[in-house]
Amino acid sequence: MASLSSRTLILLTLLSLAATIQSHNITDILSAFPDYSLYNSYLTQTRLADEINTHQTITVLVFNNAAISALAAKHPLSVIKNALSLHVLLDYYDAPKLHKISDGSVLTTTLYQTTGHAPGNLGFVNITDLQGGKVGFGSAAPGSKLDSSYTKSVKQIPYNISVLEISAPVIAPGILTAPAPSASDINITALLEKAGAKKFASLIVSTGVIKTYQSAADKGLTIFAPNDEAFKAKGVPDLSKLTNAELVSILQYHAIAGYSPIGSLKTSKAPISTLATNGAGKYDLTVTTAGDQVTLHTGVGSSRVADTVLDSTPVAIFTVDNVLLPSELFGKSPSPAPGPAPVSAPSPAPVLAPGPASVEAPSPLAASPPAPPSETPGGAPADAPSAESANSTSGNGAGHVASPALLMTVLVTLSAAAISSIVLS
Ligand SMILES: *[C@@H]1O[C@H](CO)[C@@H](O)[C@H](O)[C@H]1NC(C)=O
Ligand SMILES: *[C@@H]1O[C@H](CO)[C@@H](O)[C@H](O)[C@H]1NC(C)=O
Ligand SMILES: *[C@@H]1O[C@H](CO)[C@@H](O)[C@H](O)[C@H]1NC(C)=O
Ligand SMILES: *[C@@H]1O[C@H](CO)[C@@H](O)[C@H](O)[C@H]1NC(C)=O
Ligand SMILES: *[C@@H]1O[C@H](CO)[C@@H](O)[C@H](O)[C@H]1NC(C)=O
Repeated sequence: MASLSSRTLILLTLLSLAATIQSHNITDILSAFPDYSLYNSYLTQTRLADEINTHQTITVLVFNNAAISALAAKHPLSVIKNALSLHVLLDYYDAPKLHKISDGSVLTTTLYQTTGHAPGNLGFVNITDLQGGKVGFGSAAPGSKLDSSYTKSVKQIPYNISVLEISAPVIAPGILTAPAPSASDINITALLEKAGAKKFASLIVSTGVIKTYQSAADKGLTIFAPNDEAFKAKGVPDLSKLTNAELVSILQYHAIAGYSPIGSLKTSKAPISTLATNGAGKYDLTVTTAGDQVTLHTGVGSSRVADTVLDSTPVAIFTVDNVLLPSELFGKSPSPAPGPAPVSAPSPAPVLAPGPASVEAPSPLAASPPAPPSETPGGAPADAPSAESANSTSGNGAGHVASPALLMTVLVTLSAAAISSIVLS
């Protein structure tokens, strides 16, 4: 019974992982075209590449190195990101479709529209089939000209991704002149307070962790701020009983160096280091994605990534539903009873129990399973409880504490195997 349900859950988890395996890689596609190397580089720098890869039906309008260097020379990365996101159409257009637009003209939604930065219809692009076989592109804002035109097809994977070259960037009114706060201008605490994370904001100020955040911000920073409800949840340790060093570690654990907007979180595979990381594999977070839902796993519990508070290159701030409790501090059941974070359903317990299912699952799927079985300490049969789980099983219902990392290792290995078998076939 238990093993059946854990098997089902594992399969579901694998399926949801499989669903997020990308069907295309824009960086790879463009790398074959030196004319777009700069464009490609900006897609990487702005993390738009990740966003593009997570969309199943998409058209990217590219322009050559000369055109993008003219655009990029005068603007910070956050502005370049907005400008480029207007060139990512959330629909599939190849050359035949461009010439078959009904009534000759259409407004199509772009990635820029989904950022919430685009007022009115500034996030739409007007595609018009002009006379003489020419296709014009322009901003959908009233009064805009069709300043850019289709020049050639670059690459198509029907009907997933199409890359088309256009003659010049499509510029929406105001997109280049919108104020672009530099990282040092961003008032992190003010944003957090406004987003309903007052408690977290006050903690980072009182402990001085805000300074760590601020000094990291210029080079890129991503913050996961628990909302005020998260601190009231059952199972959250009494912060006043922690040492200052522990509290600092927890707060540093809620941020990662580098800019990781939601698309990048969705595509991240390996465990990610946090600002608390003080050695290989320490204070890591693992990310899983199911559809649009991104979940962070600490090894003790997990938390949904709730809202985007700020996405402005190089800083991203999110709210999360639960306080993230690092296994380094809470691996051994922080408070008696119900286990640390009130994990959002489904509870990890059944999945993570090191039962036979978690061991048998790999074999039919991974033809040449490299790691999983050998990861069991001392080469013991993998279905025997490991030393760690034996210890924590005695520890009052928190028996699964040490196991999420193991499960994630298995899942990551499996999905890596799945990806390589897809790539190789
Ligand atoms: C996409 O392709 C690039 C270049 O080939 C590679 O470096 C990168 O790892 C790939 N990204 C993913 C998510 O596979
Ligand atoms: C697209 O732009 C052209 C030229 O400004 C305009 O005539 C046309 O109505 C626009 N199309 C749509 C669907 O708004
Ligand atoms: C297009 O995407 C779908 C869904 O990700 C995938 O099943 C299909 O194989 C892709 N098509 C191609 C030609 O890659
Ligand atoms: C940031 O905002 C807070 C209010 O949340 C305010 O107290 C503080 O002075 C602001 N800091 C700066 C540098 O403006
Ligand atoms: C398990 O408990 C034993 C004895 O208490 C201890 O020596 C060992 O280090 C513990 N192992 C882990 C992984 O905590």
